Amino acid sequence: MFETLKPQPADKIIALMDQFRADPRTGKVDLGVGVYKNAEGHTPVMRAARAAGQRLLQAETTKTYTALAGDPAFHAAMADLVLGAGYTTDRLAALATVGGTGAVRQGLELLKRARPGLRVWVSDPTWPNHLSILQEMGIEALPYRYFDAESKAVALDAMLADLGGAQAGDVVLLHGCCHNPTGANLNLPEWQAVAEVLARTGAVPLIDLAYQGFGDGLDADAAATRLLARHLPEVLIAASCSKNFGIYRERTGILLALAANTATRDLVQANLTTLNRLAYSFPPDHGARLVTTILTTPDLRADWEAELEAVRAGMIGLRQALAAELAALSHSNRFGFIAQHRGMFSRLGASPEQVERMRAEHGIYMVGDSRINIAGLNAESVPLLARAMIEVGA
Ligand code: LMR
Repeated sequence: MFETLKPQPADKIIALMDQFRADPRTGKVDLGVGVYKNAEGHTPVMRAARAAGQRLLQAETTKTYTALAGDPAFHAAMADLVLGAGYTTDRLAALATVGGTGAVRQGLELLKRARPGLRVWVSDPTWPNHLSILQEMGIEALPYRYFDAESKAVALDAMLADLGGAQAGDVVLLHGCCHNPTGANLNLPEWQAVAEVLARTGAVPLIDLAYQGFGDGLDADAAATRLLARHLPEVLIAASCSKNFGIYRERTGILLALAANTATRDLVQANLTTLNRLAYSFPPDHGARLVTTILTTPDLRADWEAELEAVRAGMIGLRQALAAELAALSHSNRFGFIAQHRGMFSRLGASPEQVERMRAEHGIYMVGDSRINIAGLNAESVPLLARAMIEVGA
């Protein structure tokens, strides 16, 4: 029967990862998949995650199941990290998921249950897997303009105008911080304007928060999410622990759902719990337990925050170095946006042909839309990339 299956297009980001691994050239530069790398090109286990793992190994007496929705201590620790102190637990439902992608998926499953015929507004551009998941689930995706190709900044007026066309019961998928793939982000007054459009239209935000701590800091990166959570009756947040805790392969994420009142919250929680049962019964627990241990143990938390801050500062340093190198080579400030962008990514604005030339002639790998992973750079590769960009005419 398998012959009836349709061939599947490769995921472009994951395919690029494989292509890079297969390239025999020394001196090749990987700016593809969104994984943090240090100056040696290594993705280390964070100190606090290693220490938490050792403590767990000593302290854990059982591996029996947790709860279908995940460990309540993980819910509380993550709600605190994302929503800040003083959030309203009586309106909050939570679900431990298989990574941040699992949280996006379960959030959409919940929304589809609540509203058959669901429509989801997505930023143009967005993380390609958002579109793939929506298509697979048969959910209509509507683009809203987001990125100004000329200035490489957020096209705020266009974004607000498009979102103004949303209807009550539509969902708006937002990147809470560190927009993927562009690196262009809204400031807080601009988020306030988005909140007002959502309040006016009755559209519900689904916030993908995959990079908290990678942009302007842990609290600053959650500020937009907190603002929307304060202003709107219903909010979904899909938070990933992959990047900020460096535990990619543990697949640790959470879906937080704010409901309009406690009765609806109970309904949401029951439906979320069922969705986990139907998909994989119990969610993975080891990564969630690492995160809970880090967040609730003062010495581990302080060390984690310090290491995360160093990671963040390192990426900003690389942004500034690349922008300076390009300013010197191009005798212009047209690449100044790279230092303004935040998070792991920047969309450079190179054409697909220029991206391909940088790969073929210089061994520099980036996603076809010219998205680079800033953390893939180091002091040696910054000038290589800058020269390659100028040479191909980007
Ligand atoms: C990315 O965008 O590169 C990351 O989110 C990794 C992935 O799964 O695509």
